[in-house]
Amino acid sequence: MSVVVGIDVGTSAVKAVALRDDGSVAARAESAYPLSTPRPGWAEQDPQDWWRATEEVLERLGAEAEQPAGIGLSGQMHGLVALDERDRVLRPAILWNDQRTAQECAEIEQTIGLERLISLTGNRALTGFTAPKLLWLRRHEPDLYAQIARIALPKDYVRLRLCGEHAIDVADASGTLLLDVAGRRWSEEVVEALELDSAWLPRVLESPEPSGATADEVPVAAGAGDQAAGALGVGVVAPGPVSVALGTSGVVFAALPEFAADPQARVHAFCHAVPGTWHAMGVMLSAAGSLRWLRDAVGAEVGYEQLLGEAARWPAGTEGLLFMPYLAGERTPHADPDARGAFAGLSVRHDRGALVRAVLEGVAFGLRDSLELIAELGERPELGRVSGGGARSDLWMQIVASALELPLERVAVDEGAAFGAAILGGLAAGVWPDVDRAVGATVRPRDRIEPVVEWVEPYREQRERYRQLYPALREL
Ligand code: XUL
Repeated sequence: MSVVVGIDVGTSAVKAVALRDDGSVAARAESAYPLSTPRPGWAEQDPQDWWRATEEVLERLGAEAEQPAGIGLSGQMHGLVALDERDRVLRPAILWNDQRTAQECAEIEQTIGLERLISLTGNRALTGFTAPKLLWLRRHEPDLYAQIARIALPKDYVRLRLCGEHAIDVADASGTLLLDVAGRRWSEEVVEALELDSAWLPRVLESPEPSGATADEVPVAAGAGDQAAGALGVGVVAPGPVSVALGTSGVVFAALPEFAADPQARVHAFCHAVPGTWHAMGVMLSAAGSLRWLRDAVGAEVGYEQLLGEAARWPAGTEGLLFMPYLAGERTPHADPDARGAFAGLSVRHDRGALVRAVLEGVAFGLRDSLELIAELGERPELGRVSGGGARSDLWMQIVASALELPLERVAVDEGAAFGAAILGGLAAGVWPDVDRAVGATVRPRDRIEPVVEWVEPYREQRERYRQLYPALREL
């Protein structure tokens, strides 16, 4: 039996899983690192921490994973690692949830024209994306900018250390704003218009293609950004069920048979990790991140289980209490780095459990916003496949299913993006002949959460109020 390894370079930790070819887990390991926020709205990490953590998890996977058939990489998307001509890291990486580039985004849309930008890249310029970060460096750190010889995304920096190769996959490259997403290659037009150097860009591969090998000659797949890898890991490889991921960010993700950008780019249109296919996704910046924030603020001593128990005592709609989950700005449906969170409708009856319930519901309404935009692009989905830390809570899953009015399935092994990365590693090594057979052999639904019939109507009403909140508070 072959063993394949998937590595996910996340925002809080590197997570690794060693998978047997029947989809069972042989070993898993995790190694955490800090996130630095040197100024409000900034988010940075030291790429050396990612590499140290990767070495540690590979070591900790132990004997079963010592000589895997293949390795696949995935990771937080959009982050910028700037390297000099000797591949030395020039400064801390600027991450996906960093909001410093509003001015550069406006400039990019003006230089290229919004319509042209969307037709070329499938997207508008969003603060978290990679290209605006380069323009920010050019303006604010010109000496450092002058030394850039190469750029990498987070997992691709780990690849460089693992096998000495500069490479990226089409799914992660889609989040740079430099990819011709329909053509699945760098966009010369965008690179030139922004006066960037095309020699900095790594070679672009399809996700299952081998990108190089480790010193022990284990093939390393190109891999994918965490959302595409996570979708693969829950079997979302073709139009049908959508992937609903409840990690720090919250994502609704639909596979598309062909490139189709929303004319206003309210959702992202990216290449999928399945060769020759694309996907649309809406991204909330603070999903399970909102719950973590609330726990740290009001319940650090009691933990999630107690807080969720307290939330379960409140009725659907929390007696009118609303939470707007824009703690770190937002992308979908409001591309607004300055958006902020709010509770509205507090009464003397509301206690800590009510705050928790309102957060769970506010995140669910945010996901519904993304689902609506995705439904406008094609068929309304009939099933969601969930993953991420938030999917472990039955209560939260019932709330999300009822707010989305969509049954949700959890899979037998929820290892998120690391699971999808392992599949890609196996494909690069020839363990399975194609994506369909790999998914068929490894991904199995575990249980299904139906919408709670009595909650659907209260959530429709509450969502109407939720939708009025951001426009009402925006000016404040
Ligand atoms: C996707 C995105 C986030 C990060 C989280 O566009 O920005 O999901 O990839 O790791």
